[in-house]
Amino acid sequence: MIVTIDGPAGTGKSTVARRASEILGFQFLDTGAMYRTVAHLVLESGHDPQDARAAAEAARSIDMSFDGLRCFACGSEVTQLIRSELVTESASIVAQHADVREALVSEQRRLAACSNIVCEGRDQGTIVFPNAECKFFLTADPAIRAERRMKELVEDGVTVDFETLLRQIEERDRRDAERPIAPLKPADDALIIDTGPLSQEEVTEQIVDRVRSRMA
Ligand code: DC
Repeated sequence: MIVTIDGPAGTGKSTVARRASEILGFQFLDTGAMYRTVAHLVLESGHDPQDARAAAEAARSIDMSFDGLRCFACGSEVTQLIRSELVTESASIVAQHADVREALVSEQRRLAACSNIVCEGRDQGTIVFPNAECKFFLTADPAIRAERRMKELVEDGVTVDFETLLRQIEERDRRDAERPIAPLKPADDALIIDTGPLSQEEVTEQIVDRVRSRMA
């Protein structure tokens, strides 16, 4: 069974999707990590994320693998490298290139073949796995997402301005939602969950319960 969990950043999507996959005993695919890795490879090779050709080349050579929380590209660990603010910004730029998306979508389908898996991203239910058996789309008000992100950064010892963070989130949302290819939107058959008033445990529970009822 394929379970898709899509939605913008800061909805708790990654944590919830990973936790749900553990409870269900499913594999887990973090597709955002793949776009981040492409951005990291582009920056590392001295190119601009706007450079569609360099980004497509990186996407085609990515050879991504995962081991629990750790991510590897061509055998080298990138787990920490892909979480910087620069990579976060650049990932949303490389994600706009059609050739990048094409390469990563086929890699995602290959990684998800013949297993029970939870796939997390922006386009998993709409483009990558339109026939997935169980689809979710998580949302939350941008201010709530900015607050959550601020808390994470403060815990990591990083000082940030709330208004700047909110603006960055709104700008990334706009880029993800308005891009012509695979824009961020819920699949028609996705269950939309507003995570604003819910704890991560409550969101996870809703997902697990629904998947189990589909499997019964
Ligand atoms: O979920 P994340 O923050 O790790 O994603 C990083 C970037 O990749 C984000 O700007 C959106 C993009 N992305 C995408 O376009 N499609 C996906 N399936 C996953 C992520």
